[in-house]
Amino acid sequence: MTGTRLGILTGAAGHIGRATVDKFAANGWSLVITDVSDAVEEVARNAAREHGTTVIGVQADIAREDDAVRVAAVAANSGQPMTFLGLIAGINHEAAPVDQIDMDIWDRVFSINLRANVLMMKHCVTLLRQSGGGAIATTSSWWGRAAHPYFSAYCASKAGVIALTQSAAGELAPEIRVNSVAPGNVGTPMHFDALEVEARERNISLKEMQEIEWAKIPLGRPAEPTEIAAAFHFLASPESSYLTGAVLDVNGGCGFY
Ligand SMILES: NC(=O)c1ccc[n+]([C@@H]2O[C@H](COP(=O)([O-])OP(=O)(O)OC[C@H]3O[C@@H](n4cnc5c(N)ncnc54)[C@H](O)[C@@H]3O)[C@@H](O)[C@H]2O)c1
Repeated sequence: MTGTRLGILTGAAGHIGRATVDKFAANGWSLVITDVSDAVEEVARNAAREHGTTVIGVQADIAREDDAVRVAAVAANSGQPMTFLGLIAGINHEAAPVDQIDMDIWDRVFSINLRANVLMMKHCVTLLRQSGGGAIATTSSWWGRAAHPYFSAYCASKAGVIALTQSAAGELAPEIRVNSVAPGNVGTPMHFDALEVEARERNISLKEMQEIEWAKIPLGRPAEPTEIAAAFHFLASPESSYLTGAVLDVNGGCGFY
């Protein structure tokens, strides 16, 4: 391992995940990165080549306990003290009213957005303690603070992530700080797919829907994934040493005005 600090990042082949891998690797972190997609191995190779640090890619479905154990074991076997767990993996779902929701989809959303985060905490806390402490950051959402019609499973799961973060923060202090990053709209397919669904519901164009949605954001635009990555890096660093149980809204001010 070449970096001076070791972190695990989940959802690392996704849009926010890739930007976060880059941010940490550029700042000298060694990383174990994981995703259910096999693209994670290429993300690891590219980040290692570009930034000259150790980045190990592990394809895993972290909603399964044996896979969560396997990812934690890779970090344990690296021989380097682990000081950060960044829980970024998550999924959204097709729009559906509560009286028509498919319960298999409901269970799948909860399994990835909530259960996987519990599993990763469960199997990484010992490693963080063995390192003398560290930080965990979950990914919630503005939609976990103020829910949105037709996306009940996603919104409820993200509200659950906030409660999980606060429970874990109370349990693991003072050795381990636990905080959440709550993005609003991020310029990724997850955001544009949701816009497209709502445009169809309202029978308007995507451009019109975009204008309506972005007008609600005081900063007038969705975030770049790098702007979310910067929040994870802050929560992993000593710069955030007095933050635990916090939800960091990185949303351009949406919902507050
Ligand atoms: N994009 C947005 O507008 C937005 C807004 C608020 C919150 N978020 C949250 O940010 C996080 C990242 O979003 P994104 O836009 O980068 O999405 P994305 O779809 O690009 O990335 C999510 C990644 O998680 C991985 N993943 C899904 N299930 C998994 C599993 N069982 N095991 C391991 N990996 C799994 C996917 O393969 C994917 O690479 C998610 O938790 C999402 O809910 C996104």
